[in-house]
Amino acid sequence: MAPGTERMARAFDDLADEYDDAYHDEVARALVGWSAPTGTEAVADVACGTGAVALAVVAAGGGGGVPVLAVDLSAGMVAAGRARAERAGVGGAIDWRVAPAVPLPVADGSLDVILCASSLHFLGTPALADWRRALRPGGRVGCTLPVASTFQPRGVYAELVASDLPLPETAENGRQLADHAGFTDTAARLLDVGSRRVVLIRGRTPA
Ligand SMILES: C[S@@+](CC[C@H](N)C(=O)[O-])C[C@H]1O[C@@H](n2cnc3c(N)ncnc32)[C@H](O)[C@@H]1O
Repeated sequence: MAPGTERMARAFDDLADEYDDAYHDEVARALVGWSAPTGTEAVADVACGTGAVALAVVAAGGGGGVPVLAVDLSAGMVAAGRARAERAGVGGAIDWRVAPAVPLPVADGSLDVILCASSLHFLGTPALADWRRALRPGGRVGCTLPVASTFQPRGVYAELVASDLPLPETAENGRQLADHAGFTDTAARLLDVGSRRVVLIRGRTPA
């Protein structure tokens, strides 16, 4: 593993046992509602952590055709996610991988929907180009980013934020990010969860 990658994995391994909370589940449910994967689509949860998004996809009846692909660098986060899915009785519905999310370990044009909650700001802009590669023509992307003025990462997590991706302040900033990355039919909206505000962003690959 590259040194930066190893540091990222270690930082999130350290958080894994106490990571789950209502905030991440609420953001995940909102993202899944906003992106609306159907029961037959091939879906990936990118930088899945403990799988809040993958679990929300399964709960909403999406990803029924094939297991939801859930990829994260942190073995600790993935182990916590697996345990959570087993407890919920949906262990077989998610294909967990401990791996870098950029590039995604999938063939070109093989996914219908890519979802990524609370993580794009760690992955940086190369992830956006990779999502266009991995999605089929007309495939959909949905992601969330923290709003710049309410984002207060601390310690090592602040140091791990990618420097090449300006955080949005408004929904329009978020929409433009997807637009500039080459997605079409782009849209964005704000979501407030307690004192935190995020932008939900969606788009399609050109058909
Ligand atoms: C704030 S957590 C979000 C987790 C989850 N998506 C959620 O909504 O709860 C960020 C996650 O990104 C993962 N991550 C960061 N960089 C990554 C990379 N290059 N490849 C895969 N996972 C990465 C971390 O390990 C961590 O689990």
